[in-house]
Amino acid sequence: MKTGVIIVAAGRGERAGGDRPKQYREIAGEAVLARTVRAFQQALPGSEICVVINTDDQARFDQLGLQTRIAFGGATRTASVRAGLDALETAAVDSVLIHDAARPFVSRALIQSVLDKLLTAEAALPALGMTDALLSARDGEMTGSLNRDEVFAAQTPQGFHYQPLMQAYSRLGCDAMHDDASVAASAGMTVAIVDGDPANFKITRPEDFQKAETMLRASEPIFVTGQGYDVHRLEAAEVMWLCGVEIHAGLGLVGHSDADAGLHALTDAVLGAAGAGDIGQHFPPSDPRWSGASSDQFLMHALELLGQAGGEIVHADITIICERPKVGPHRDAMRQRIAELLGLPLARVNIKATTTEKLGFTGRGEGLAAQAVATARMG
Ligand code: CTP
Ligand code: MG
Repeated sequence: MKTGVIIVAAGRGERAGGDRPKQYREIAGEAVLARTVRAFQQALPGSEICVVINTDDQARFDQLGLQTRIAFGGATRTASVRAGLDALETAAVDSVLIHDAARPFVSRALIQSVLDKLLTAEAALPALGMTDALLSARDGEMTGSLNRDEVFAAQTPQGFHYQPLMQAYSRLGCDAMHDDASVAASAGMTVAIVDGDPANFKITRPEDFQKAETMLRASEPIFVTGQGYDVHRLEAAEVMWLCGVEIHAGLGLVGHSDADAGLHALTDAVLGAAGAGDIGQHFPPSDPRWSGASSDQFLMHALELLGQAGGEIVHADITIICERPKVGPHRDAMRQRIAELLGLPLARVNIKATTTEKLGFTGRGEGLAAQAVATARMG
């Protein structure tokens, strides 16, 4: 079954206000119409998509760089759909989904359930049942009550078989109807209902943009990464602290605190994710409080700052660069300790080690370097 999609985007968005029609305004950096088109391109790869635009919006549409057919809409939504149906005539589609550009959050599952229903139904649309008690009113006064079980809020995409819908539209003449299911029903088709999706709301009023941003933030979290790098000089010593683990290999790291280069690099990576500067700003080496300090407290402070910035760490990857000590025998303990400090499962922490082929200060054994990348989920 070859499917065509008509996305009607020719309205003026009077109720939403703003400096442009609502379908060209952005939600989290992407235009509403671009999101809507993408939803169908991803759900139905290879389908024929036609966007019906207003003649005044050609430049705005071109700026989005969308790869779709276009048609020019009319003064009513009905006229715009008709233009879309005409534009799909040459595409030889069997079925057609008609969708409001102003519903960018249509899910793949909803699109599929309308299409599935169409295998057995003449027409199908998603609709939401009512939870509040319903009443009728006029001029600010109640005139009666309605049976909640018999009332639904219609959504799109509404699905049809192409030819019968074309015929229904030609029988309609110049009249305008509020949606395509009504056109189909007026032509005698049976219209089946599938469960609508509250997330698939139509951006209609100014406050809907805020609602959309909030919803997106919850469903599409933002991830940030921070990176850190640290070096400490190596000397003969009984004990070395590295990645929160005590190593007895005849070598130690020289520094003001316990000189744990692994934890310092990780602390800097966490500070990077938090947008909070670097470890030296928070724990200046000149401050006697940090003399011999255990570096896990630096990391805990960085995690606290990340929390204040609305973030939580989700992954850490650390690379130790040295000829000696051998990291391998301590890798599991390091991973364990860092997972503990970060409050992460083991699988979200990785420790790597490498030498530098005897090159440079690490190759000559003068010092040990550590790099870290921390990934955080924000908001
Ligand atoms: N639409 C259209 N052609 C029209 C009117 C509406 O293509 N002449 C489209 C809109 O672009 C929108 C969808 O139909 O994607 C649903 O309509 P609505 O939410 O009412 O959008 P607008 O008509 O643009 O908004 P308003 O009624 O507030 O002016
Ligand atoms: Mg309208």
